[in-house]
Order: sequence, then C-alpha cells, then structure tokens
Amino acid sequence: MNLKDKYIEFFFCLGHKHIPSAPVVPENDPSVLFNTAGMQPLIPYLMGEKHPYGTRLVDYQKCIRTNDLDEIGDLTHHTFFEMLGNWSLGDYFKKESISWSFEFLTDVLKIPVERLAVTVYAGDDKVPYDKEAHDLWKNLGISEGHIASTTEDNFWAAGETGPCGTDTEIFYFRSDDEVPERFDTEDDRWVEIWNNVFMEFNRTKDGTIENLPNKNVDTGMGYERVVAVLEGKNDNYTSSLWEDVIKLIEEISGKSYTGNEESMRIIADHIRTAVFISADDAGIKPSNKDQGYILRRLIRRAIRHAKKLDIDINSDWDERIALLIIDKYKKYYEELERNKSVVLENIKNEKIKFNKTLEKGLKEFEKKSDKDIDADTAFHLYDTFGFPIELTIELAKEKGLNVDLDGFNTKFKEHQELSRTASQGKFKGGLAGDSEIETRYHTATHLLNAALKITVSPDIHQMGSNITTERMRFDFNCDHKLTPEEIKATEDLVNKWIEEDLPVHKEEMTKEEAVNSGAECRFIEKYPDIVTVYFVGDVSKELCGGPHVSHTGEIGHFKIKKEEASSAGVRRIKAIIE
Ligand code: SER
Repeated sequence: MNLKDKYIEFFFCLGHKHIPSAPVVPENDPSVLFNTAGMQPLIPYLMGEKHPYGTRLVDYQKCIRTNDLDEIGDLTHHTFFEMLGNWSLGDYFKKESISWSFEFLTDVLKIPVERLAVTVYAGDDKVPYDKEAHDLWKNLGISEGHIASTTEDNFWAAGETGPCGTDTEIFYFRSDDEVPERFDTEDDRWVEIWNNVFMEFNRTKDGTIENLPNKNVDTGMGYERVVAVLEGKNDNYTSSLWEDVIKLIEEISGKSYTGNEESMRIIADHIRTAVFISADDAGIKPSNKDQGYILRRLIRRAIRHAKKLDIDINSDWDERIALLIIDKYKKYYEELERNKSVVLENIKNEKIKFNKTLEKGLKEFEKKSDKDIDADTAFHLYDTFGFPIELTIELAKEKGLNVDLDGFNTKFKEHQELSRTASQGKFKGGLAGDSEIETRYHTATHLLNAALKITVSPDIHQMGSNITTERMRFDFNCDHKLTPEEIKATEDLVNKWIEEDLPVHKEEMTKEEAVNSGAECRFIEKYPDIVTVYFVGDVSKELCGGPHVSHTGEIGHFKIKKEEASSAGVRRIKAIIE
C-alpha cells in the first residue's frame, strides 16, 4: 500500500470520514486562483459551519502553488502537489492529534523515534508557550533535545485574516550521518514532514486574535516531499513517484536524466500541473488571464525545455507524458479520465499556437541579446511572440543577461488596463449577444440562491456557480437530494419573482454595513473594504461584482433541468432560461 492509501486508512480507522479532494480551481473564492493548501476548502467549517460529513475528516487534496514558478527545476519544488490532511472540527484536540501522528509515523511507517524531532510554539505576549504540546511529545518518547520551539514558524494562518493557530511541526532526519542529540532547526538534514495546526483562533482585519467557536485541528503533509524523504532521496524527482515520468522523458529525448535534470524536472512538473488544471471541471483553457495564463505559461515553458532536450516538438511527446500522468492518477482523481480529451486538446492546441511563434521569437531574442534585455524588448517578446516573462528571464539568465522586470511589469499593466477599458466600453455600449444572456443568468443565480433558502432551508449558501451562454450551474450546501416538490417550489418561486419584474439596484457600502444588512456573502474577509451589494426587489441581497439585469422581467422563464450531487454535502442545480 502506498503512503496515501495508508494515511487515509489509518485515520479512517480512527473515525475520520474520507472527503473527496476539492477542485484545484476554487469555486467559491475569487481571491485566489488555485487551492494552495488542504485546509483551504475547509475554511467555512473551521470558522464554525457544520460539515456534512461530521467532525473528523481525512483527505488528499490537489494543491497548486505558482508563486515560485522560476524555482521549478530545483530538487524539491513542484507547482502541483498533493497534501494529505486530517481534521478535527471541534472534536479532538492536541492530545489525540499528536499521539496519532506519532503512532502513524512510528507504527505504520516504522520510522525510528530517534529520527524524529518536533517544534512547538515558543509563546509571545498574545499566546503562551505550548507546554502541553511539548509534554505530549515528551511522554510519547521524543527526547528533550529533539523538541525545539519557535514563535514565527509555529504559528500558522491561512492568510492575513481568518482561522489560525499555533502548530507543532514534525521533522525527519534525512541523512546517513549519525542523528545529532540536539535538533537544530537550521540544520537542513532535518526535513519538515508534517504540520499539525491547533486552529482555535480567528485573526480579524485589525490583527486581533479572537477565539473560534470550536477548537479545531488542521494537519498537512506534503505527499511528494514525504515520499522522497522516506525513500532517502534528496531529489524529489528521483523518488518512486516520479520514476516512470522521468523514464519516459529520457526515452522520448534519448537523453539521460543525469546532466539534463533541470529541463526534465520542468517538463515533468509543468505537464503534470497542466493536466490537473485542464481536467478540473472549471473548464480552464490556455489564455492571457488568471488561471488560463498560468496554464499557458506552464505548457509554453515545458515546450521550450522539450526543445532544449532536442525533442521533436511536433511529435506526440506531450501527449505521451500527459497520458502517463492521467493513467497514474485516475484512480484517485476520476476527472482525469472523464476530461481526458479536453486535457489533450488543451496541450496540443497550445503547442500548435506557440510553435508558430517560438522559433521566430527565439531568433528575435538572439538578435536583441547582445546586451541586457530592456522593457520594450521583453514586452515585444510577450506581445508578438507569446513569450511569458519567465521564459525571457530564463533565456537571459542562460546568457548571463538581466531583464528589466519592473519596466516589463509597468508595460504589462498598462496593456491590461487598455484591454480592460476596451472591453468595458463594449459592455457599456449595450450588452450584446453572449454577455446579455450571461447577465440574465447571473441575476437568475441570485434569485435561485434566495429561493432555495425559502423552499429548502435557510442554511443554504452558494458553494459555487458557473454560467455559460447555454445554462447556469449552481452549487449549494445541502444534506439531501431535493425532492420533486422542492424543485418545483423553487422553480415556481423564481418564476414568480421574474413575473413581478422586480427592480435590481446596487449600492456600495463598507463590508461591515454589508454584513449588518444581512447581505449574502461568503468569505467576507477576502473582499475589499468597500463592497458592492446587489438588491433584487426585497427578495435578495448579495455581495457581487455584477453585471445584472435592471428588472427581473428581462430574465425570461426559469427552468431547473437537473439536480445532482456535486461533492460531499454539496448539491448542484443545472438550470436554463427560456
Ligand atoms: N494548514 C497547514 C499547512 O498547510 C496544515 O494543513 O501546512
């Protein structure tokens, strides 16, 4: 059994429900492009909302971090990774969490206790030293010399505001050297493998720490790192997790990993992440915006490194790697198989696009690379040849040149501003075609959200939504399949409001005013200080960026086509307007 399965089974036997991984593209949190930690989809529950699966949860979560794209290629960084985690939502706390982690590591994974060390919270003027955690570890057999304490590394928060708490980090001694008696957090032979956060606080905007309704536990273990560590590998890409992918790249390129590590790691990592982004039901396509732009950059950078390895770009090298990744992971993530053709198409189309300009762009770069790359050249490479900035930086680095990144960023922003104004102009000139129907769907979403609270339960909240010109999709928390009566009542209520031709208007207010007015909002802490609230008659109040119709009569007849499960405790409605 691999580590992932062992982890799930261990906590399952301790009464934890296995919850499915949330999508990598968060459906209900516009403030981040991707899910970056196992706990992220669980924030509402850590804040006190009831989770439909109960108070003990375990999962492996797809995560993507792209803030350090240029570090990919080294020994340990990945843009995509899986995080194993177990949670207590107001159930057990420090004692069980620490002793179960210890049991899993020493009994299940058979790690000798002397190879383990931990840190606990050292204490400051707000939160005291975590003596309890210290004593628990000590009683389990971790020697005094292997227990260190810090303040900065032993406090974990999801962001500037929101759930947070002190943590205890667990380290493993990865080296053939003799294990030192004293654990030194600066000694990189000690590698962090697990983080147990005792999430009992909420940090508010002004930095105040207040108690959460529950004392929770949030733990996270980076899967690829721990597999590598336990296999004694310094280079994650030589662990059993990557073996087959690297072997395939060696085969395709006819080159060996040794001597070509950087390019092979980048190809392996970027294609894997591109596969996972493309397979997500959010339907992300390579583009110049948000997640689509990350996807584009990943594919383009992988292509450039394939070229560096003299791989024939026009061959099916990308498809072979993507298929291997789909095969490897589909047992855990069924969407990979389900959306396989979309994944392959995304990569292929982007390859065709980039291939058209790559060669010319490289020539252009050669021409300009007799000196440092100025902002105009970097922008020209981006705008005309589709070179993401990190690609230009990478090419420059190989020649020992600098790039005027600040200058590029200024130009890039100006350019974005221009295209935004252009598209807004179009919008103001009349919501023609696609936009108009999407706007009608958008207002219908608010009505559906409000109707469900009346026809099904006042506790219902939007968990996600997606609008196309053909239909709307609306996800909401609910512990049961809607009955035909509930569906009918919901549909009728929405249509009644449409027939009443209710006026829609918006108001700007402070977040506090919005909350006090009872406006529907999720993740309030992620919004700016001044928010827009849309009112539909007096039936709906929601924080939203718009746009919306001016009267509900413009929406048309509303019809629910389907009601189905979306994920644990989350139902999905697909509806159309006619
Ligand atoms: N939230 C913590 C982390 O991401 C533990 O899950 O490390």
